[in-house]
Amino acid sequence: RRGEEEQLSKDCRELISSLPTQKDWLPGNLYQYQGFWLPSHYLQNILTCRNQFQPRQSDIFLVTLPKSGTTWLKAMVFALVNRTQYDPKSNQTQHPLVSNNPHELVPFLELEPRIDYNQIDSCPPPRLIATHLPLISLPESVKKSGCKIVYLCRNPKDTFVSLWHFTNKMRTEEMGSISIEETFESFCRGVNVCGPVWDHALGFWKESLENPERVLFLKYEELKEDPENHLRRIAEVIGCPISMEEESFDLVDQILELCSFDRLSNLEVNRIGKQPSGLNNSSFFRRGEVGDWKNHLTPQMALKLDEIIKEKLGDSGLAF
Ligand code: A3P
Repeated sequence: RRGEEEQLSKDCRELISSLPTQKDWLPGNLYQYQGFWLPSHYLQNILTCRNQFQPRQSDIFLVTLPKSGTTWLKAMVFALVNRTQYDPKSNQTQHPLVSNNPHELVPFLELEPRIDYNQIDSCPPPRLIATHLPLISLPESVKKSGCKIVYLCRNPKDTFVSLWHFTNKMRTEEMGSISIEETFESFCRGVNVCGPVWDHALGFWKESLENPERVLFLKYEELKEDPENHLRRIAEVIGCPISMEEESFDLVDQILELCSFDRLSNLEVNRIGKQPSGLNNSSFFRRGEVGDWKNHLTPQMALKLDEIIKEKLGDSGLAF
């Protein structure tokens, strides 16, 4: 991320000069824009896609906070949407998910691997687009487009622990590792990429209550608990429900098996492959469990975060 700010457009440099700033967990800064802490390249891409990206009603947005299960959701929805073209049976070696990391198959709106705002217009519908952006920062055109949104969040304690590990994998030897105490303190203040996590989740929670036919709100823990029924629900909301015939040959289980943590994390592409940025694909697969926070947070830390979350979510009906 070094030198990144020199490559920003004049508009973006002007914008960030007016915003509150804090140090990121990686070298570089986060800027508070519309209430959320974003790195400068996110802001640049927000500005660019406002001008260049043309949403379609048939688009499907996969929205997550980093470390909430983005890679898993991308894999499952890619397999669902493309099931006629690519047979998801687990012994099927021709499936794109066997030779590509899910991030290569479903690009992001605002970060790498990023959609090409111009070329994507030639993609056949539905387009799958991922984003970590909070609702308020999505281009107005996207909100008005009537597109489908699948939002996946995760217990903030596990999200935090996953993010802390991931950050340390991204830090070079020269940077050294960052301590759990330092990152926890800033996470509790809401200062992490796309944080505060509670406000991010609340935005989409409210949207899902207002537009349940268009916005599906999911939790990682619920997906782990009952993946079959949640996958069926995703298929319905995004407009490609599982048919009786597909049920008869266990399509849901086939997709879940293809996208399981064990299967994906053991594929060569995910064991030794890299992202164009140089990041190891294996960084996206750590433990994939619920409750790993217990191995990293002290009881005091857990209590503190629980209290913050409870207060911030208030009587919204959302709880973790
Ligand atoms: P842990 O660090 O707790 O193991 P993201 O994809 O948003 O970056 O989130 C990464 C988290 O999702 C990591 O959590 C990772 O292990 C977990 N994950 C990745 N693939 C998964 C899968 N197929 N099933 C369940 N969890 C998965």
